[in-house]
Amino acid sequence: MALLEAEDVVKHFAVERNLFGRPTAFVKAVDGVSFHVEAGETLALVGESGCGKSTLSRLVLRLIEPDAGRLRFEGRDLLALDAHGLRAFRRQAQIIFQDPYASLNPRMTVGQILGEPLRLHDLVPPDRRRARIEELLRLVGLEPRFARRYPHEFSGGQRQRIAIARALAVEPKLIICDEPVSALDVSIRSQILNLLRDLQARLGLAYVFVSHDLAVVKHIADRVAVMNLGRIVETAETEALFAAPRHPYSRALLSAIPVPKPQAGRSRMLLQDELPSALHPPSGCRFHTRCPFAIDDCRIVAPQLLADASGHATACHRVAELPPAETIVPSDGALSPALERLVAAFGRRKEGPVPSGVGTIGTTPTAV
Ligand SMILES: Nc1ncnc2c1ncn2[C@@H]1O[C@H](COP(=O)(O)OP(=O)(O)OP(=O)(O)O)[C@@H](O)[C@H]1O
Ligand code: SF4
Ligand SMILES: [Mg+2]
Repeated sequence: MALLEAEDVVKHFAVERNLFGRPTAFVKAVDGVSFHVEAGETLALVGESGCGKSTLSRLVLRLIEPDAGRLRFEGRDLLALDAHGLRAFRRQAQIIFQDPYASLNPRMTVGQILGEPLRLHDLVPPDRRRARIEELLRLVGLEPRFARRYPHEFSGGQRQRIAIARALAVEPKLIICDEPVSALDVSIRSQILNLLRDLQARLGLAYVFVSHDLAVVKHIADRVAVMNLGRIVETAETEALFAAPRHPYSRALLSAIPVPKPQAGRSRMLLQDELPSALHPPSGCRFHTRCPFAIDDCRIVAPQLLADASGHATACHRVAELPPAETIVPSDGALSPALERLVAAFGRRKEGPVPSGVGTIGTTPTAV
């Protein structure tokens, strides 16, 4: 039985309303997503900004409610939980965010921050709390005496360690990590990633790991799910996905191997396209306006995410006909302008072009 299972989960946000308050426009942030996470494993969610990664993360913790779909944790229906059940679930599943400073109360000492979940969930008797707080600090590589200090007295990496300690206080089985190292200096990133891996090995934690950084994903994930405009387009074991991405979107994102230049006519069509958004997603396959392999069917019929015997799943009508990634070499060595834009969009990070701190992997996409 999987630890976490999501089935056809949907979340549309109303972004415009008429005079009567009726919604007239929706952002289809998550639009029919299914995945599972096994105990003790790391599933990475990757995709361009706005594809729905954070929304999906909040949905599976029931921090926001889905419009449709099913969520199960250890086989239990998460959407049927009452207040008591939800409270118990919150002990099992935690989240850490990109900006630890924003998620730590500046008026509380680290000891109070870590003591709060212990008290709320009545995990440790009051006379044992101090010892447990010190134990948690040691677990994340901080000195016990730091319990008396305030968040502003720490560096970004130390604050993320405090956020991790707070998540660990309730002894969860799953931690959602939403861009946990993106805001950190390169030199600190690998320390936090190594801490997360170490904690996983020691405590048997499962992670859903949201990241823009493919080098980080390759370093930390067991499996990867690639998202585009509210849907998963490909999911596979990390090694298999990086070695041979199948979906044209994943190929552009995960591989340095260029995909072929589309025919001249299609190239012009792609050039005219604006980047599609979750507010007005393209019909059929949501990637069709940017895909060099699109055929008429792609504009009409949404492809299903179908798995082969190994569990490698792809949502593309033409996946069986596409040339193997490694044989795709354009005659003039150039990416189409549309794909250049796509690769550039993925490489763009909110905090600027910071290289990864976990070593090069040779597959970070570069526009040529
Ligand atoms: N509360 C909300 N109300 C309206 N629209 C929202 C809301 N939350 C998210 N969205 C929209 O839903 C889409 C998905 O957003 P989400 O934050 O999940 O993307 P993301 O993949 O996490 O992006 P990023 O990589 O930038 O963090 C975006 O178009 C976003 O603008
Ligand atoms: S379904 Fe069509 S448009 Fe979508 S990725 Fe496959 S070939 Fe491209
Ligand atoms: Mg996000």
